[in-house]
Amino acid sequence: MADAEGIIESKEKDFGIGVPVKTEGFYLKGMDHMSWGIKDRLRRMFNPESGRTVMLAFDHGYIMGPTSGLERLDLNIVPLIPYADSLMCTKAALRTVVPPTANKPICLRSSAGTTILTELNDEVVIDPEEAIRMNASTMAVMVSVGGRYEAKTVANLVKTADAGYRYGIPTMGVTAVGKELARDARYLSMASRVCAENGATIVKTYYCNEHFERVVNSCPVPIVVAGGKKLPEKEALELCYKAICGGASGVDMGRNVFQSESPVAMIQAVGAVVHNNLNPEQAFEMFNDLKSDLVSV
Ligand code: 5RP
Repeated sequence: MADAEGIIESKEKDFGIGVPVKTEGFYLKGMDHMSWGIKDRLRRMFNPESGRTVMLAFDHGYIMGPTSGLERLDLNIVPLIPYADSLMCTKAALRTVVPPTANKPICLRSSAGTTILTELNDEVVIDPEEAIRMNASTMAVMVSVGGRYEAKTVANLVKTADAGYRYGIPTMGVTAVGKELARDARYLSMASRVCAENGATIVKTYYCNEHFERVVNSCPVPIVVAGGKKLPEKEALELCYKAICGGASGVDMGRNVFQSESPVAMIQAVGAVVHNNLNPEQAFEMFNDLKSDLVSV
């Protein structure tokens, strides 16, 4: 117990009478009324100066196995970690490869089920205690709006998001678009909105060339954009740029980084678009400069 003797009571205490308490809004869309734990975790993921994030996604193995560029996570991914704002991966990748000293916020893949060998999206969710044990900053759940497993995946999101709000952990709804569905603004805005309305704190979806700003504006929480299939580097940087100009709060990019001819250069060029508003030409030049520097080392 503190020693009560010797405590000095000033005669003139300052209660700041007349000075209003500062009430600050939170810098991410729709997050003002979230709990302290959720805001703290979001603060780790989204740079407070740009309000955006570069998430490095390498969870693909959970449905694809050792896909190209992810054959050896220790060799392929660990060198990229310093340049990412956040890492999206499975529990196994964390336990076996990601050094805890990396001190990066983790978006933990929190749903799992079928693989590309059968039909995707028949998934269950992990116990949120696993996410707590792994100090996850976000839990990511696949949601297949319009797909065969729509009800099941929406229920997965609801369950995880409810647990997330209980424990102060954000949940990311990952919109899974089946082959038969068009990736247009009409569909993507519906899928994103369904995720947000069912509890997602962040939504991950795809960029679309027409009316992407409608997808962002009709979603009450931040949207991050997936990279999708591998594109030539300049086109991938254009995709990032257009998504950011359309109001995305960042990217959650996998194949366009780890399958790049120079992943370390690519993730830095993506970061420059996301945080420093470089246009695609400037970012591509940066990519080429970094690539040749890395080759000459
Ligand atoms: C896999 C995912 C991936 O993390 C996501 O698709 C991002 O990776 P990419 O940029 O390669 O599309 O959710 O289920």
